[in-house]
Amino acid sequence: MKKIVINGPCRLDGQVEISGGKNAIVAILPATVMVCGKCVIENVPRISDVENILKILKYMGAGIRNIDEKTLEIDCTDIKNCEIPYDLARRLRASYYFLGALLGRWRDTTVAMPGGCSIGLRPIDQHIKGFESLGAKVDFERGNVHAKCSSLVGNHVYFDVVSVGATINTMIAAATAEGLTVMENVAKEPHIVDVANFLNSMGADISGAGTDVIKVRGVSRLCGGTYAVIPDQIEAGTFMVAAAATRGDVTIKNVIPKHLECISRKLSEMNVKIIEFDDYIRVIGSGVIESASIKTMPYPGFPTDMHPQMAVLMSLADGTSRVTENIWESRFKYVDELRKLGAKITVTGNVATIEGGVQFLGAPIRSCDLRAGAAMIIAGLVASGTTVIEDIEHIERGYENIIEKFRGLGANIRKIDVPENR
Ligand code: EPU
Repeated sequence: MKKIVINGPCRLDGQVEISGGKNAIVAILPATVMVCGKCVIENVPRISDVENILKILKYMGAGIRNIDEKTLEIDCTDIKNCEIPYDLARRLRASYYFLGALLGRWRDTTVAMPGGCSIGLRPIDQHIKGFESLGAKVDFERGNVHAKCSSLVGNHVYFDVVSVGATINTMIAAATAEGLTVMENVAKEPHIVDVANFLNSMGADISGAGTDVIKVRGVSRLCGGTYAVIPDQIEAGTFMVAAAATRGDVTIKNVIPKHLECISRKLSEMNVKIIEFDDYIRVIGSGVIESASIKTMPYPGFPTDMHPQMAVLMSLADGTSRVTENIWESRFKYVDELRKLGAKITVTGNVATIEGGVQFLGAPIRSCDLRAGAAMIIAGLVASGTTVIEDIEHIERGYENIIEKFRGLGANIRKIDVPENR
């Protein structure tokens, strides 16, 4: 069993390079299925979610070549249209993007229900609403989603919920539908814009990504090309919070500061010094950390994927803070683990009340999901003594070389592999 061991406390100092965006690449890779020709994708983060999507693409017969450490060439010209089995789909949430991509390419697809972090009910009714508006018939059968149509035809779709996944999935399928698709009440996250830019660079005609309305004019086919993935907003935010929590001084490179505004502004409110440059940002965490309140919202609101990390910082603040979680009802699982280190957090409904001024003490803890795992690492960096984190495969799903990156900033952190029964 792999574990992360941290000897704290430490003060982070130095520079760290942010990898390509997880939630962008996990949609872009399935979307390559739509492309006849070679897609060269740059700034690919080598995280386990990516490796699992590559397994699905290989299973379908895609040609995959590692050009260098961060660049992949994917050729889906000769893929077979096949069912994506449960054993492959369950490993990550984003396997649902194969539904939109295979529907767009073949008009017929069967994908097992996706897996992913256990952070609440994760319905896909809005994805289905999108596919059905384009003319597909969608059925559920023995754990599989089956979507089929004789032709995909552009239409008007108004989403009842602002959903990242439904926005991207419908946009992918609509890229090769006949005529115009108008999608309203869509998500606006940076990765929505990135997937639209990727599809456009392969020949699609998509406008409005990043606003409430996306228009997709269907094209008959997508051809190959080269595309570089945007930097990961949440990885950058995680290092920003870690710098602040350890009272460090960290320069975070390869970022788009605009994408980080929701996080930067909140940290500034908490008396953390943020200095923005063109493609890097410096975070200085000296002085008293002020308490704050956050309410998670779709972009440009405060991201739910930064909530657990912020709870660690709030535990160190002067006074009581509050987090209202509006997206995922089971995102509070990390609270029990943080309490083992000394956190004083109470949860009522979707609101966590966090008492500040805590001195964390190292202890054995678990990573319940990806972002909870990131929060556990930050807490371990701040805690006195040894913190051992289990179930770290969640962390490896979305953070590239996280141990090496924190070690480069001066943390005493390492990964160990111990036999299961010890
Ligand atoms: N929702 C519905 N119906 C749907 C889809 C979503 O009711 O058909 C609801 C969800 O239950 C949730 C809200 O809408 O309450 C937002 O869900 P969304 O569809 O936006 O989430 P997602 O696409 O499943 C992506 C990220 C998550 C991130 C959320 C919110 C990927 C692969 N995952 O999930 O990332 O929390 O958007 O920003 O892009 C993570 O990276 O740790 C992670 C969980």
